[in-house]
Amino acid sequence: MSEGFDAGWLALREPHDARARSAAIAGALIATLPARPRLLDLGAGSGSLFRWLAPRIYRAQAWTLFDADAGLIEAAFETIALWAEALGLKVTTPGRALLVHAPGGAWRVEARQGDLAEIGGLPLAGHHAVVNSALCDLVSRPWLAALSARLSVPFYAALIADGRVRWRPHLPADRALAAAFRRDQGRDKGLGPALGHRAPAAAIELFEARGFCVLSAPSDWRIGPDQTAMLSAILHGDADAACRADPRHRARHAAWRQARMLHGGRGRLSLRLGHRDVLAIPR
Ligand SMILES: C[S@@+](CC[C@H](N)C(=O)[O-])C[C@H]1O[C@@H](n2cnc3c(N)ncnc32)[C@H](O)[C@@H]1O
Repeated sequence: MSEGFDAGWLALREPHDARARSAAIAGALIATLPARPRLLDLGAGSGSLFRWLAPRIYRAQAWTLFDADAGLIEAAFETIALWAEALGLKVTTPGRALLVHAPGGAWRVEARQGDLAEIGGLPLAGHHAVVNSALCDLVSRPWLAALSARLSVPFYAALIADGRVRWRPHLPADRALAAAFRRDQGRDKGLGPALGHRAPAAAIELFEARGFCVLSAPSDWRIGPDQTAMLSAILHGDADAACRADPRHRARHAAWRQARMLHGGRGRLSLRLGHRDVLAIPR
């Protein structure tokens, strides 16, 4: 893994992710699963997808959280335990697993630390679905093609960035900034040149070519003027990325940052950011 992800950022985005994911696509995934499904969550981070999807599956289930970052895996176990206890559910920790005793059956969580780059080493066997959230725009086309060639179970990819950005109020400089940001998104994050905003179309094409039935739906973030921490994180992240990709126009990107901070400070800033959820089901 060449790039770390901050647990604070994952926590900040979690409620926005939860609101944005398509319930219809998740429902279609759940309809394919057997009585006691086992799911493999690639790039699971601090377990945000588990907290969203496990209650929807409801029945007894087992998850393997796969991530390179030992700190995030540890955070996932802690956060899941606190979240479950806040819901009034008992949590036990037999061996290296965590069990959430839910009314519909136990939710078992285990983790595997490893590098997604070693695709042959992924623990695909024994799982009824391979799932992920906010991962597919980080991976390369060859990586996704290699994964699709190995899968014979449903593949669910939530929150794949698709490049659509609509800041309000509109600024003429939005366009240049978004273009520079998209260039930065294509950087190699350890899995080859990243697909970035081309990821949703690539995932659909690659899995259809393998004979999967592919469903997809938008899962946009809609971030209102009162969500100041999230707006601030995104605007600074976008401006930093634009400066990295397009250092010649650093002054222009700095002016954009200043203007957006001013709009945010006055409670006038909002953002709609495009994502897609994709589900590929083997025929
Ligand atoms: C954008 S975060 C998403 C985390 C989580 N799925 C969520 O939605 O909050 C991407 C995750 O992929 C993991 N990751 C990135 N590259 C990886 C690699 N080469 N091997 C394993 N994990 C990786 C990161 O550690 C991080 O947890």
